[in-house]
Amino acid sequence: MKTFTEPLKLQKWCAARRAAGKRIALVPTMGYLHEGHLSLIAAAKKKGADEIVVSVFVNPVQFGPNEDYAVYPRDEKADLAKCRKAGATVVFFPTPENMYLPGHSVYVNEETLSKGLCGARRPGHFRGVCTVVAKLFNLVHPHFAVFGQKDFQQETIIRRMVRDLNFDLEIVVAPIVREPSGLARSSRNTYLSDEERLNALALSMSLRETKLRVAKKGALPWRSESKRIAKALEDAHLRVDYVEAVDSETLEPVKTLRPGNAVLLAVYDGKTRLIDNEVM
Ligand code: PAJ
Repeated sequence: MKTFTEPLKLQKWCAARRAAGKRIALVPTMGYLHEGHLSLIAAAKKKGADEIVVSVFVNPVQFGPNEDYAVYPRDEKADLAKCRKAGATVVFFPTPENMYLPGHSVYVNEETLSKGLCGARRPGHFRGVCTVVAKLFNLVHPHFAVFGQKDFQQETIIRRMVRDLNFDLEIVVAPIVREPSGLARSSRNTYLSDEERLNALALSMSLRETKLRVAKKGALPWRSESKRIAKALEDAHLRVDYVEAVDSETLEPVKTLRPGNAVLLAVYDGKTRLIDNEVM
């Protein structure tokens, strides 16, 4: 397994592999890897990539001033071992200084899908995500890149960016990997106390219940269903950031929840912000 820290060295190496006819996959991450990230590497392998490039970069540009950039968990050594075991062939560990040169002044802004949900609560977040992902696409020029459904809005925005800016690559979306309890795996789960972990189960439980109700009834008025979910979250001592039902392509809110719509949740569990979602 090769490692790179210099963006231009990675770019040169990837271009040579592509010229040699190799199929290149990119898996962008912020590290502190867990089963969710590793499932993306497995998906790249299954799709027949010859080279699987995993980027590990806590991207400062996508964090707000009051967010957890400084304390975001990092473990370079463990990440390398996990990547090797999962079948990655390249790990890219850039530094903020070599990703953002002095005077960096060009950003990628998605202007519609980023307006609501996490975008409304985390101003500038998706501008940071789109910018770093566009840079990674230009550095690696992968045949395909794998993202997780865990970050539903992010994945939708990235697909729109690829379409609108004509990136020559395919986006593959992999399902949410959960702990046996149902809790969606996340690097931020490491912040949770035992009690907070228990409370967090209300996220996946309420989503599952709603999905069952939609399957049974075919359609549900969202007003009453969202109240039911919000109450379940509050009863579990979670502070609701949002509970929304949207069209899964346009992310426009829906008034009646039907199969194919997505329900997205964000809560504060103590100080930790958790997100989860389910396509009905
Ligand atoms: P990060 O939160 O590290 O997530 C990296 C990738 O792993 C994303 O595509 C995310 O959706 C996926 N992922 C996380 N938890 C998952 C789970 N439980 N099941 C399946 N996939 C999961 O998302 C980011 O980093 C950053 O915003 C990034 C795209 C790397 C840009 O900086």
